[in-house]
Amino acid sequence: MKILRKIVSDLKPLSWEEGKRTKFSRETINLLYGENPLPQLDVVKKKIIAELDKMNLYPESMGYNTIDLISEATSFSDKNIVVDNGIDGVLNLLAKTIIDPGDNVIVTPPTFPVYASTTKLMNGIVTEVTLEDDFSLDINKLMKAINEKTKVIYISNPNNPTGNILLTNKQIEFILNNFSGLLVIDECYYGICKETAIDLVNKYDNIIILRSFSKALNLAGLRIGYAVGPKYLISAMKQVLNDCNPFVLNRLSQASSIAIRYQDILSKQFISSKKRFKSKLESINKLKIIDTETSFLLADVSKIDIKASEIISKLSNRGILIKDCSVYGFEDIYLRISIPKKELEDKVITNLREVVDNICKGKLK
Ligand SMILES: Cc1ncc(COP(=O)(O)O)c(C=O)c1O
Repeated sequence: MKILRKIVSDLKPLSWEEGKRTKFSRETINLLYGENPLPQLDVVKKKIIAELDKMNLYPESMGYNTIDLISEATSFSDKNIVVDNGIDGVLNLLAKTIIDPGDNVIVTPPTFPVYASTTKLMNGIVTEVTLEDDFSLDINKLMKAINEKTKVIYISNPNNPTGNILLTNKQIEFILNNFSGLLVIDECYYGICKETAIDLVNKYDNIIILRSFSKALNLAGLRIGYAVGPKYLISAMKQVLNDCNPFVLNRLSQASSIAIRYQDILSKQFISSKKRFKSKLESINKLKIIDTETSFLLADVSKIDIKASEIISKLSNRGILIKDCSVYGFEDIYLRISIPKKELEDKVITNLREVVDNICKGKLK
């Protein structure tokens, strides 16, 4: 008997850097994930430490400690909020809750790949509306791609890996008024980017906003994501959680979620380190640095006519890891670079400059 589901046996072999564990060592500078390099606030650390004595006890079911703090920060009722393990967890939960086999969803590559993977795992069908060369989304193309089976549109706003805002709130309202399915707005970078469509949850029942504690709030290791949406949908998602995964957030995660009270301070700190690192990157004349609304920066390498993947591979030999974004459908001319720790910034810049110079010299020979 074949044990694996067909859809699972068809998955591509592991292509992410996680597969290459041997490359991680103490000295490795990991700039793969758009993490926040700053130290966490003491007030948050203290809350986590205070929880260590209670690890024999199950945490609050459904993450209600965290939900209450999110409710306080967003002014939405707990009935509008659900939490899971990062936005990744929320996306899985959402797909389990709404995707029937054959349902159609729209994604806008190059974009965060989990929208498509979670859909496919539920035997949904993915339609792609590719972004334009300048990374913008043609809303007419998006509307034309909708058919009677389209249940969901996923938008990363701002978008990973292009770093830009794809839709203004006016455009979001236009879609909501002309589409009866669900519009998912992934605001993973909220705090670094100040734009938000969260108020539209009060006005429409076909929008859901996803946010993360991983980026501006600097808690990627504790895996907290949340969704703010209409009560009927949040209640169904909670029902699925209740039946399959009622202790969704562990004690340490729930304790750490106090960080949301300090969102403004944490965001400011991150934005200023990003600004400092960007100006250092700009000193590498051969690269064109593109501003972003996200936790990572982009460097366009096309003016020196070399492939981003060549730079990534040479940097990885020096212990500096940058993500190959081809998995996102991204063209091989962009480097997506996370912000390193302050004390590592110069090392990253020196190595990147040398790698680029060496490749260029090699081409001249
Ligand atoms: C657009 C987008 N959504 C979701 C995620 C995953 O976030 P989390 O760490 O909350 O699972 C990422 C991670 O980088 C992302 O870029």
